[in-house]
Amino acid sequence: MKRLIAGNWKMHGLKAAMAEIEALSGKLTPADLEKSDVLICPPATLLMGLGEQAHNGVALGGQNCHQEEMGAYTGDISAEMLAEAGASYCIVGHSERRAKHGEHDALVRQKADACHRAGITPIICVGESFTDRAQGKAVKVVTSQLWASLPEDHSQVVVAYEPVWAVGSGAIPTLDDIGEVHAALREVAGQNARILYGGSVKPSNAAQILSVPNVHGVLVGGASLKAEEFYGIISA
Ligand code: G3P
Repeated sequence: MKRLIAGNWKMHGLKAAMAEIEALSGKLTPADLEKSDVLICPPATLLMGLGEQAHNGVALGGQNCHQEEMGAYTGDISAEMLAEAGASYCIVGHSERRAKHGEHDALVRQKADACHRAGITPIICVGESFTDRAQGKAVKVVTSQLWASLPEDHSQVVVAYEPVWAVGSGAIPTLDDIGEVHAALREVAGQNARILYGGSVKPSNAAQILSVPNVHGVLVGGASLKAEEFYGIISA
């Protein structure tokens, strides 16, 4: 299965940051692109401008979408709008949206269905809290999140396992723990889904993480903002 190396810029990036995508596309070799699909999910404000040009194989994605196609939803963006702006993927159910915007599994499922309606691939995020992990509940928590968040059509989804306590903290689970969770998520998601790991991925730990069975790529936050650092992960 071809791996997917995805960057989530979160709420980082004014116009000047578009140069990072140019710098990244300049570094990518045919061999890199043979081995990995490369994706950047910039803020929505940058998407349209970036989507007007090709970037040597760097795909673009949204970070969130509304579940409806259109309507009186001030401030929201539909999956169709993201697709028109050039997105081919959209992150849904990121832990920051679950925690800070009250998004629950049923809504995440609706958003994933909306992505399919718009012809883009949802990247469905799941992940346990520190307490869940300490209590030995990580596998149970993430598999039930995924069961409840998966859209009707399982065949075109990407799943991202992002332990909440590993996001932006510098800490990561052991490779055995990552392997255990990914094997359990594979059972739920089926054979076609790529399952990414996310949470404090850096050039220094990417090769080890990517060598774990059932890890088909990574979803990177902070280390995706600079082309040089992100390229260090792509070339790992
Ligand atoms: O979606 C990616 C993210 O939550 C991980 O962030 O900064 O720990 O790589 P970071």
